[in-house]
Amino acid sequence: MHVPLLDLKSQYAKLKSRLDEAVLRVLASGRHVMGPELEAFETDLAHYLGLPHAVGVSSGTDALLSAAMAVLLRPDERPQQRLLREDEEVLTTAFSFFATPETAVRLGGRPVFADLEEGGFNVDVDDMLRRIGPRTRLLLPVHLFGMQMDVTRLVQTGLPVIEDASQTLAPGIGQLSTCATLSFFPSKNLGAAGDGGAVVTRHAEVADRVAVMRQHGSRPKYVHAIYGGNFRLDALQAALLRVKLAELPAWNERRRQNAHRYLAQLGDIPGAPLVLPRDQPGHVWHHFVIRAPRRDELRAYLAERHIETEVYYPVPLHLQPCFAHLGYREGDFPRAEAAARQALAIPVHPELSDEQIDYVAETIRRFYAR
Ligand SMILES: Cc1ncc(COP(=O)(O)O)c(C=O)c1O
Repeated sequence: MHVPLLDLKSQYAKLKSRLDEAVLRVLASGRHVMGPELEAFETDLAHYLGLPHAVGVSSGTDALLSAAMAVLLRPDERPQQRLLREDEEVLTTAFSFFATPETAVRLGGRPVFADLEEGGFNVDVDDMLRRIGPRTRLLLPVHLFGMQMDVTRLVQTGLPVIEDASQTLAPGIGQLSTCATLSFFPSKNLGAAGDGGAVVTRHAEVADRVAVMRQHGSRPKYVHAIYGGNFRLDALQAALLRVKLAELPAWNERRRQNAHRYLAQLGDIPGAPLVLPRDQPGHVWHHFVIRAPRRDELRAYLAERHIETEVYYPVPLHLQPCFAHLGYREGDFPRAEAAARQALAIPVHPELSDEQIDYVAETIRRFYAR
């Protein structure tokens, strides 16, 4: 039995007529950039999240960049390319996708990392708070793998907080913070047919600033008081995302059922101290990530039996070659380093059958019984 990590072809087959209709509608409309399709998606997305504002942008990476630019540019400041001085800091987690700390570098500053919470994959808020210093300009926590973290104490510091919710599109994000960012990379719970992202917020002025930034800082047209970029979300992607957003609650429910089926079967493997992901209300199970002894051996064993898996992420951020100049060393963030050695994502997407999940669980059991 083949068990893919992702099955976008089956997803498409189920929604084919509606997705095809959306594409043809946009093609026939002649409106491919900005316009009513984008506005309709932004309205639906904001409504889904219970937030007043959603601004569609070109990717999750650009959502982080445009949000950070919007937040860090003070209204009284001269427009500038480098919004951070070289010694100014964006405080974030040591364990995420690279785009998260890259934001700090793109703005001219430097990332500062904090370790993970005990037993989980989100940042340890106490460790993050301890690392706030006089040069900290922005807090950038990440809701990793679909699991929301509590940002209350980060917001209470008074520093701007951007939540990287690229992997966790779920009501609750963006409610307390300055804003939250989303990615619609095809593999995400809500995926476009290409790249896409959004900034969501309860603050009208942040949404407005991002909306200006995504069109080169222009307002009115061809007048540029600030710098920005081309961070627009295509009408075509917006139309497709709108069709899929209507399916998201059902897909997330299926992910939850799949996760529970794994939790029921993987809890008591003799001789294998597997650490299973914690459940909590609102978890959207973007990935189901176990911590596995002999992870790489297990991965090869599963691959031989046609079960696809992935390692998110094999190198923690503080040990990335491009950050060598920051002076971090192995041992600085033991929990993030352990996660990089042990984490293994097994398929959890909504198109899986119960038989496929049982096959994955059984194969993992067989591996540890050998
Ligand atoms: C945590 C995190 N941040 C940022 C991004 C960047 O999003 P994108 O790939 O849409 O640019 C991703 C996407 O993979 C992500 O998982």
